[in-house]
Amino acid sequence: MKLLVIGSGGREHALTWKLRESQHSEDVYCAPGNPGIAQEGECLPVDVTDPLAVLEVAQQVKADLTVVGPEAPLVAGVVDEFEKAGLAIIGPSKAAARLEGSKIFAKQFMQRHAIPTANFLVAENFDEAIKALEILGTPIVIKADGLAAGKGVVVARDREQAEKALDEFMRQKTLGAAGERVVLEACLSGEEISFIVMTDGRGILPFSPTQDHKAIFDNDQGPNTGGMGAYSDDSILDERQREDIVRRIVAPTLAGMAAEGTPYRGFLYCGLMLTANGPQVLEYNVRLGDPETQPTLVRLRSDFVDLLAAVREGNLAGLEAHWSPSPAVCVVLASKGYPGAPETGKVITGIEAAESLGGVKLFHAGTTFRDRKLLTAGGRVMGVTAIAEDLPSAIERAYAAVSKVNFEGMQYRHDIGAKGVRRRGTGTAGGRALRAGKRVPGSAKL
Ligand code: AMP
Ligand code: GLY
Repeated sequence: MKLLVIGSGGREHALTWKLRESQHSEDVYCAPGNPGIAQEGECLPVDVTDPLAVLEVAQQVKADLTVVGPEAPLVAGVVDEFEKAGLAIIGPSKAAARLEGSKIFAKQFMQRHAIPTANFLVAENFDEAIKALEILGTPIVIKADGLAAGKGVVVARDREQAEKALDEFMRQKTLGAAGERVVLEACLSGEEISFIVMTDGRGILPFSPTQDHKAIFDNDQGPNTGGMGAYSDDSILDERQREDIVRRIVAPTLAGMAAEGTPYRGFLYCGLMLTANGPQVLEYNVRLGDPETQPTLVRLRSDFVDLLAAVREGNLAGLEAHWSPSPAVCVVLASKGYPGAPETGKVITGIEAAESLGGVKLFHAGTTFRDRKLLTAGGRVMGVTAIAEDLPSAIERAYAAVSKVNFEGMQYRHDIGAKGVRRRGTGTAGGRALRAGKRVPGSAKL
């Protein structure tokens, strides 16, 4: 089969790499891709926000199946265009992608279907927002309605911070139309996890659970980013918790979408807070997570194309995916300045040395090739992903690889996976891992 991936980040590098491994794969393409992805398959230029341009690329390479990474093409209706043209694609329709495209739609949908989520009010203008703030009090979470590339949510501790965010979103329009309307919602506390499933609309195939690290600095300090690192480990949720999430959240979401005439197909990412009152939905994403996909796919042992074909054909019910029992960890290397304006154009060194440590794979995100040099080209530059027999070893291995890579201004978190180690009661690994580079733990296959 000819397989096409849409996007250009670490998630798309992991997807392209995994699809290439499939026994069904003949050629793998990615549009627009990046220099790392170009080592796995041919990259073609495209504007991912233009559904017809994406369709043209698929027709040009005669793609038998297209997998979409980012939300923008889905929200813009790329799946509808492919279906009109009779081409196979994995993802939700434009109508179903509103679960991510509009926070107001998502919250009101959850309310209609009694899906657990924080109490909220919708504000159409600044005055309404101030009234809602008076009703809900602080701390409060303010969410721009539209897509804002990770910049549309502010957790405000006090009224001053809340008013500042509302002023920026709704009066100064710092996010353009995306911030003209907002959701104000109660602040939840607990542990945050990413619960991602594949679905054909009825059948649900949960991926092994992952935990992202959204804040820029260690110990969840500083502003939110797209994700500074993630790990995938079965121990994040036990069997009973997973069943509970499927029963209380995923199944009613799919049933609700079907009942409203917008059946949901593709990947569904539920960002959850595990609160004292059970799991609550923070957000839906209508795609795979980034970086979550990187540690997830290095653990996948099933043929990924078989799973995608089952989604396409509506045969997912009863199908199981096989995962390596070994946990995997991905540490994101970011440019100076991120999550604000990143400094770019810095030379990246040490990739071969990092990958020569077994059980390590580097997934490129913001990189570019110029004058035969690999340079940084974005905020998140790459995901250093490692798999090992247990979580502390996977962390140690990932940071050993990180210590080999260098570019000017490189920043990363030093505590990726530490929550998982604490949960297992085996001591903290983040600090120990930082000093890595000395000892690389034993074997585990990628
Ligand atoms: P979202 O894009 O809606 O997931 O929000 C981005 C981040 O803001 C989440 O990953 C959480 O860390 C935080 N967040 C969102 N909603 C809430 C909430 N109701 N309570 C506490 N934190 C939240
Ligand atoms: N890592 C968070 C996301 O993909 O939205």
